[in-house]
This record gives sequence, C-alpha cells and structure tokens, in this order.
Amino acid sequence: DRSLKIAPSILSADFADFGREIEAVEAQGADWIHVDVMDGHFVPNLTFGPPLVKAIRRHVTTVMDVHLMIAPVDPYIDAFADAGADILTAHVEAGPHIHRTLQAIRGAGMKAGVALNPGTPAVAVEHVLDLCDLVCVMTVNPGFGGQSFIDMTAKVRRLRELIGDRPVHVEIDGGVTPVTAPSLRAAGADVLVAGSAVFKGGSVTDPAPYGANIRAI
Ligand code: DX5
Ligand code: ZN
Repeated sequence: DRSLKIAPSILSADFADFGREIEAVEAQGADWIHVDVMDGHFVPNLTFGPPLVKAIRRHVTTVMDVHLMIAPVDPYIDAFADAGADILTAHVEAGPHIHRTLQAIRGAGMKAGVALNPGTPAVAVEHVLDLCDLVCVMTVNPGFGGQSFIDMTAKVRRLRELIGDRPVHVEIDGGVTPVTAPSLRAAGADVLVAGSAVFKGGSVTDPAPYGANIRAI
C-alpha cells in the first residue's frame, strides 16, 4: 500500500546523534520524521524545544512532523514555524481553544494537526476538521516511548466517518508494531508513527535493521 506512510519517532533514537539517526532512517525508507516535544506539564516527561527542532531540520529531507505534548501551545507556534516544522500537531486536551490554535498553525504557514488522547472521543474534533490536515489518534497515554498498545480501531473508524471526503490524514501514535498495524490500516489510518519498533536492533553504524523494521510494519 503505497499511500501508507511510516513516521519513525526520534524519541527512540540516540539523542546525542539525531542528525545521523535521521539520515539513516530516511535512507532506510522512512516517509516522515516524527518529532515528540514534551513539556513536563501536559505530559510527565521532558524532551526538547524549538532550538533543537531547528537544529535537526537540515537533516530532514522528507517531512518533519512535530507532535506537541505541551500546554499552552499558542505562545510557541511561531517558534516552531521558524524551526521549520512542516506539520505541527497540538492536543485537543491542551487548552480550551483548539479552533484558534489550528487557525494560528495554518496562519504561520504549516500544516495543522490535532491529537486525541486515548480517553478523548472522536467527536471532540468534529467541528475543527475543516481546519486540520491530520488527526493523530494516540494509542498510548502520551509521554514515553515503548509503552503497550491501547486499541483505538473503533475511534479510527468513527473518525473516518466524520472526516468523509476531506483530505485529512489519520495518524496512529503509540505501540505500533507489525502486530498492531494491520487493523489500524484497515480501519482507515494512513500514517503510522513508530519509535521502538523502528529503532530496535539498529544503530547509525548498522542501520539495516531500521529498514527491515519499517518494511515489517
Ligand atoms: C508517545 C510519543 C510517541 C512515541 C511512540 O508519547 O508521542 O511518538 O515515541 O513510541 P513507540 O512507538 O515506542 O510507542
Ligand atoms: Zn508522538
């Protein structure tokens, strides 16, 4: 299925070597690069912010897909645009004004995404579907890589009904493996984020496992 995109999450890469990790995983077939930004407030973990995203931008030749797990979002939109994000995704749970946030992301020249935690229903995004290019369905509680998968295939199907013929990606994030991917694809997901399942067993000096892992999903 050529329309399926695999987006490795650099959360599972070597944090001291992001440039070479991105180049390796792109050479091995990654369609997008997924970048997880955490603030220690919206989620119980910290990663990095706009300066690092800007520094890795020149290593990305595909699509830089930036997933914000931060609250608030709006004060940082311009900084992520300046950092070179192609897609900027905000959580619907991150504040009371997701409509304004999505407008601002597009207004800053990026594609706009909206993410849903496992406990949040598909209808939470029903009235912003004309403002977004991507809906990210979390299949773990955000904050960490390598967690076990929470089945959200019913939510994916419901989202596809709500989206109708709009050109909106449905992305899955968390616990994606060759075992969990097929039912998500069948339900209508077209972008699969995978961290641990892509990076396991490989390294920048031995990147072939990254390619085998990508093809296995
Ligand atoms: C989780 C992040 C995910 C994470 C996925 O909070 O948003 O992108 O890196 O990692 P795996 O694929 O290992 O579940
Ligand atoms: Zn993510």
